[in-house]
Amino acid sequence: MREFVAETTLRPADLILPMFIADGLGTPREISSMPGVQQHTFDSLKAAAHEALDVGVRCVDLFGVPLDADKDADGSQAWNPKGILNRALHELRAEFGDDLLIMADTCLDEFTDHGHCGVVGQDRWGRTVVDNDATLTRYQQMAVAQADAGAHIVSPSGMMDGQVLAIREALDDAGHQDVSIMAYSAKYASAFYGPFREAVGSSLEGDRRTYQQDPANLRESLLEVELDIDEGADFVMVKPALPYLDVLRAVADVSPVPVAAYQVSGEYAMIQAAGRNGWIDLDAVMMESLTSIKRAGANQILTYFATDAAKVLHV
Ligand code: PBG
Repeated sequence: MREFVAETTLRPADLILPMFIADGLGTPREISSMPGVQQHTFDSLKAAAHEALDVGVRCVDLFGVPLDADKDADGSQAWNPKGILNRALHELRAEFGDDLLIMADTCLDEFTDHGHCGVVGQDRWGRTVVDNDATLTRYQQMAVAQADAGAHIVSPSGMMDGQVLAIREALDDAGHQDVSIMAYSAKYASAFYGPFREAVGSSLEGDRRTYQQDPANLRESLLEVELDIDEGADFVMVKPALPYLDVLRAVADVSPVPVAAYQVSGEYAMIQAAGRNGWIDLDAVMMESLTSIKRAGANQILTYFATDAAKVLHV
């Protein structure tokens, strides 16, 4: 009877698995602050993607971790076809064709030596600032390189103004009309990203508060979503998820395009930590958190639990 009257159903196909491909690894490397998540080699990446697809996950989101020596001020490995992320996208597309949706993180922070999501310059007072408009050109090059490599979806996560339109125009000009854009529309300057910074070996000092949103604001998210949809976003995203379910609900109520939510590294780490300590029932909390995100209005959920949750749904 409970199942018969359930208002919310979670499906493996709702889940997107974020994955990390690292350059120069002989064997996969466990990320200590994200137990169960690894920096992958090409072989382990493909194996983990197969494992996810086998239990019904239809989309993976790929982040690249270049060698420190390959980082530079511009993040040029991001649009180099031989850069680690573009090589991995190519390998995955060759392996899976259209059986698995391959999404790419379209942001410079993994590739810049300063760790910011864009090109940095100095303002009139000599302070380091991210140059929004100079960054857009880089995002265009990066998105086209990712589409060339085989990405079905690009996902600009840098919160630069105008990034969706810039990328849409560049993709169309390059003949990639069919490549979709999942826009990180309402992305907050959140401390919940802490473990992710270890996952990608981030070089960031300081914070991203000049381009990511203030956790105090909700209305601002509705404006960001509206702008991104006008610019051509095929999906909009709210991130993080669980602390922002009110934002997610408000966005879902007005969005004419699918709404994704990202259960981020810190959310994952907290559940893992408490679960591994025996303080909570890990599987039960995992499923409850994902069901709540879906109930709040998410169509797609990016979660490091994707394969584990899909396995629970399969039995
Ligand atoms: C930026 C990016 C971040 C995350 C995804 N894309 C980090 C940031 O904005 O600082 C965080 C994801 C997570 O914490 O799981 N490219």
